[in-house]
Amino acid sequence: MDALTSTLLGWLCVGVTMLFGVTLFYAAKKSPAEKANLLVWRLLPTLLGLLCVAMLGTGGGLVVFCTMCLIAVYLGSRALLPVGDKAVLITGSDTGIGHALAKYLDDLGFVVFAGVLNKDGPGAEELRRTCSQRLSLLQLDITSISQVKEAYLKVSEKVQNTGLWGVVNNAGILGFPADGELMPMSTYRQCMEVNFFGAVELSKTFLPLLRKSQGRLVNVSSMAGGIPLPRYAAYGASKAALSMFSGVMRQELSKWGVKVAAIHPSGFRTGIQGTADLWAKQEKELIENLPADTRQDYGEDYLLELKSYLLQMPVYCDADLSPVLGAILHALLAKRPHGLYTPGKGAYMPLCIFCYFPLWFYDFFISKMLSPKSVPRALRTSEAESKDL
Ligand SMILES: NC(=O)c1ccc[n+]([C@@H]2O[C@H](COP(=O)([O-])OP(=O)(O)OC[C@H]3O[C@@H](n4cnc5c(N)ncnc54)[C@H](OP(=O)(O)O)[C@@H]3O)[C@@H](O)[C@H]2O)c1
Repeated sequence: MDALTSTLLGWLCVGVTMLFGVTLFYAAKKSPAEKANLLVWRLLPTLLGLLCVAMLGTGGGLVVFCTMCLIAVYLGSRALLPVGDKAVLITGSDTGIGHALAKYLDDLGFVVFAGVLNKDGPGAEELRRTCSQRLSLLQLDITSISQVKEAYLKVSEKVQNTGLWGVVNNAGILGFPADGELMPMSTYRQCMEVNFFGAVELSKTFLPLLRKSQGRLVNVSSMAGGIPLPRYAAYGASKAALSMFSGVMRQELSKWGVKVAAIHPSGFRTGIQGTADLWAKQEKELIENLPADTRQDYGEDYLLELKSYLLQMPVYCDADLSPVLGAILHALLAKRPHGLYTPGKGAYMPLCIFCYFPLWFYDFFISKMLSPKSVPRALRTSEAESKDL
């Protein structure tokens, strides 16, 4: 075979391989739930890549071969297990992400156990009305040991033959975002109680079932659990604890075949922002608990301005929850789920800056992104004094 023929053949292989890769990419994008034909997805691109090396020589051939490997790995990571009769427990399904997830998984054919804080509330009622007979509602306040135990008994009785495949620790509270110095201790305690201890208690209770099925534990943490953000001292600390719990459990449970993922969403429009009535109550509690000198230093107008952050929050939050739902589905069904998912706009970049840049740069970046409009009274006064001098 002369040099020209061999080069032409080489490029033909490249073309076919590329076409193959692109076709698979679009097929996977269109139907991620489809069971992957792993032999074809992984072996064929690799073989074609090797052929390219033989035809194109080491330089060009290796580039193509490496590209093929990357495509194969990427496609392999998108391969999902079949839904079959997999059963999943979700906490906090009354509203928001948990509610949407219960409907989404039910639609996909999962056996859903939807834990709700209020079994007679509107969220539970809607799930009863709109979901299939497979979905079971469970009264489940994750801070109540007796309700967690009762839920365990109900679930284990129902899944005797098929087992429980997944637990999604979704229930969570935000508290009233404010400067860490101003937040009452009760906010720190409530955040830890629900976002961390509740999720830990539930995980520990259900892990025997997950170990049996070699299933999945998915913890819905937050972007604020991975990076420090102003006003999120209580919420962020409780979510950081949950993310660390997730990481350690991922390492420890791998020997049992259980895969653990943490989800760090950015802002999504749900019930978590609370209501005007709740803000008024939280604001009152915050102000009443402040020592007189702290109240004096920050000033009444600064304190009353705090809730404007919550008022503006929906503007920056996405109403479409599908990125979070997609991430949770991947964590539940992917053959090789990730340990960490960052769904939503702006969830990944600040984390990268926090991890790979000096801290002063991260702080500067965040101060530019989230610069507070109001300034505590004592700082305003000292600024004015220094201008007068
Ligand atoms: N939305 C976002 O932007 C965002 C961003 C990052 C992370 N997250 C996390 O995503 C998860 C879901 O939040 P979401 O945005 O969907 O907010 P959400 O609409 O308020 O949903 C949270 C759910 O948890 C329930 N819940 C509260 N305390 C509970 C308890 N002790 N036991 C059981 N359930 C309890 C709430 O019930 P009630 O409605 O009755 O209070 C609510 O149904 C949370 O863990 C949150 O921290 C959300």
